[in-house]
Parts: sequence; structure tokens; C-alpha cells
Amino acid sequence: MEKTFAIIKPNAFAAGNAGKILARIYSEGFAVVGLKKLYMSKKEAEGFYHVHKERPFFGELTDFMSSGPCIVMVLEADGAIKKWRDLMGATNPAEAAEGTLRKEFGDSLEANATHGSDAPETAAFEISYFFSGLEMLM
Ligand code: RTP
Ligand code: MG
Repeated sequence: MEKTFAIIKPNAFAAGNAGKILARIYSEGFAVVGLKKLYMSKKEAEGFYHVHKERPFFGELTDFMSSGPCIVMVLEADGAIKKWRDLMGATNPAEAAEGTLRKEFGDSLEANATHGSDAPETAAFEISYFFSGLEMLM
């Protein structure tokens, strides 16, 4: 079984959509191995998105991610990384397919409702950034 790291971003949490997103996560067959609400500081968001630090949108992205509480999760399934990215849909909600989370709950390219790791190496970093082994006991 593969693990991936996921976030219900501040816009989706503030809109009260965390429950609906979790319901989709369970109905699509993921196991929720880790889950907690947190309110990231700017520094914590910068560390999380360090791979994007040279990008022009880095400041806005980290302002948004530290603008309110979110839910961070570790999800497990066969092929969890791709499976979760498929369920999220395209980065820009305007381009996301019908039935995807970003189509349903995304407000803009920035406030796009969810995050998911894009590769095994980033999943390993992102999981360890937010979760200890003890928090993932099943
Ligand atoms: P994420 O990391 O959040 O799961 O999203 P992603 O892989 O689909 O997209 P990525 O390229 O990693 O970008 C990270 C987040 O930055 C915002 N973004 N803004 N203004 C822009 O051109 C731009 N491009 C990306 C998005 O909110 C994206 O989720
Ligand atoms: Mg990404």
C-alpha cells in the first residue's frame, strides 16, 4: 500500500466543506492513516512549499496557506499518490473535470481546495513534515 499526503486547504475548510471532502476520501477507498487540523504560520507554509520558493506565486501561495486553518492528512491506498491527484483534478479548478474535488470545491487557482503530493519523494518529505510515526498508528 502506498501513502500520500493531502491537505484540505483554508478555503475549503472555511467554507465548511471538510466533511464532504472526507466523505469522498472514504467512499473512494482510501484509508485515513493520519489527520489533524492546524493553522500554519507563514514560516511553516514556506517550509512546506520550499520547492516553489523561486516561483513568482510563492508569496501569495504561502500567504494563502497561512490565512486560516486547514486539515492535513496521510492517505493510504494502492497507487495512493496518483489516485488522490486524480480525485483532486487539475490544479486550476476552471480546468478540472466534472466530479473532481477541485471542480466542486475550488474557488480559484490559488484557493483550489486541496493539495496532494506529486511523487514518492515529495510524499515522504510532506508526511514527515507534519506527522510523527506515533500519529499514524492504525
Ligand atoms: P498542490 O501542490 O497544491 O497539490 O497543487 P499542484 O501540485 O496541482 O500544483 P503546483 O504546481 O504544485 O502548485 C502549487 C500551488 O500553487 C498554486 N499555483 N499558483 N499563480 C500561479 O500561476 C499558480 N500556479 C500554481 C496553486 O494553488 C497550486 O495548488
Ligand atoms: Mg504540487
